[in-house]
Amino acid sequence: MAQQPVHRLPSYLNPEALGPWGVYLEQVDRVTPYLGELGKWVETLKRPKRALIVDIPIKLDNGVIAHFEGYRVQHNTSRGPGKGGVRYHQDVTLAEVMALAAWMSVKSAAVNLPFGGAKGGIRLDPHQYSLDELERITRRYTSEIGVIIGPNKDIPAPDVNTNAQTMAWMMDTYSMNEGGTTTGVVTGKPVSLGGSLGRVEATGRGVFVTGREAAHDCGIALEGARVVVQGFGNVGGTAARLFHEQGAKIIAVQDHTGCVHNANGLDIHALLQYAEEHGGVAGAPETESMAPSDFWALETELLIPAALESQINADNAGSIQARIIVEGANGPTTPQADDILTSQGVLIVPDVIANAGGVTVSYFEWVQDFSSFYWTETEINHRLESMMRAAYTATSAVAKTHKVTLRTAAFIVGCARILEARQVRGLYP
Ligand SMILES: NC(=O)c1ccc[n+]([C@@H]2O[C@H](COP(=O)([O-])OP(=O)(O)OC[C@H]3O[C@@H](n4cnc5c(N)ncnc54)[C@H](O)[C@@H]3O)[C@@H](O)[C@H]2O)c1
Repeated sequence: MAQQPVHRLPSYLNPEALGPWGVYLEQVDRVTPYLGELGKWVETLKRPKRALIVDIPIKLDNGVIAHFEGYRVQHNTSRGPGKGGVRYHQDVTLAEVMALAAWMSVKSAAVNLPFGGAKGGIRLDPHQYSLDELERITRRYTSEIGVIIGPNKDIPAPDVNTNAQTMAWMMDTYSMNEGGTTTGVVTGKPVSLGGSLGRVEATGRGVFVTGREAAHDCGIALEGARVVVQGFGNVGGTAARLFHEQGAKIIAVQDHTGCVHNANGLDIHALLQYAEEHGGVAGAPETESMAPSDFWALETELLIPAALESQINADNAGSIQARIIVEGANGPTTPQADDILTSQGVLIVPDVIANAGGVTVSYFEWVQDFSSFYWTETEINHRLESMMRAAYTATSAVAKTHKVTLRTAAFIVGCARILEARQVRGLYP
């Protein structure tokens, strides 16, 4: 009789540097006891279905040939094609992209979208390159990963340091290689190329909706509520603006250039404009700069991490004085920080629910591209709002039933849906 196999870490990972992938594995271990019979399939969640590493050679503006490292990981496609963003950052690694892809699988399933999970990235600091260089890098990367992406296989979208222009280059490159315009290969495109109205704001809007629901559950009125935001890009900037427009007071913002503070509330519209013009928030008028350690320790009703992974960890969790954390970023809180914050009574709305607004409107964009029939922004925002509220309410109910955190509840729902699909499909061959 065949022996039960011992599943070790894949040989291509360094056990000493698992980073976000280690965080994800621990999250899966925490949810396994709640998966019942489906638990026998859990190993499928602990390894990506497919991971592609590509070399991206391009000619820089000065004529020098440079090589960049690119990735596309498809974590799970049991419920539908892979879906997930593309990140340009100097710290991108295979283990990070694997974790981001896995969180996409859980997220798509938790909000019940017909997608699996995928993610891509290029290891570079895009601020060091011209627009022309970034276009060549994007086009070569798209061509290299072209063998595994496609409207029915895997659909990229924007993430950190990528945007609608990046998606336009990706769509054009894929279409040129295919020999026909293929709008549905990426989402987050410009509206003029089959992008969806409301997509740019969608993730921040979802953070706002779930944060508002959580505040309501905690008896906190948004009018006058204090909000602290880390990351002032697509997600953090939009969420800050929407909370500001509902009367909340954004008292501090941190980005890669520094932290700015104003106890009376920052003028968010002016700060967005300043960040756009100066590349970041540092030095904005009518703000005081503050140390990162003071930033995390600010007393506030809502704290929104919307930058990178593992920003809230065992080192700073104990100092956090927020009532609610709404995770705009993917994987911003480590399991150790989760435990510390939960014991302090902080309610955490987990990434796989809080930031699912982006993939939800990406889903709308994909559907609109297939049907070549486009919806109004009001329709999009209305559908988004109702799906986000439903996801929050359903997660909350599961958390109460099992007496677990919202993160574990969202993972119970998401992982069970993925494993059920795995089980029903069966193993090939
Ligand atoms: N864009 C989306 O639709 C989407 C969807 C779901 C989740 N997310 C997640 O949201 C997070 C932010 O993505 P985005 O699209 O807003 O990216 P973005 O590039 O638009 O903005 C990133 C922001 O983070 C800040 N930042 C970077 N490094 C930092 C550091 N070390 N300390 C403090 N701030 C830092 C940058 O200054 C910038 O303000 C990421 O975790 C991403 O995976 C994005």
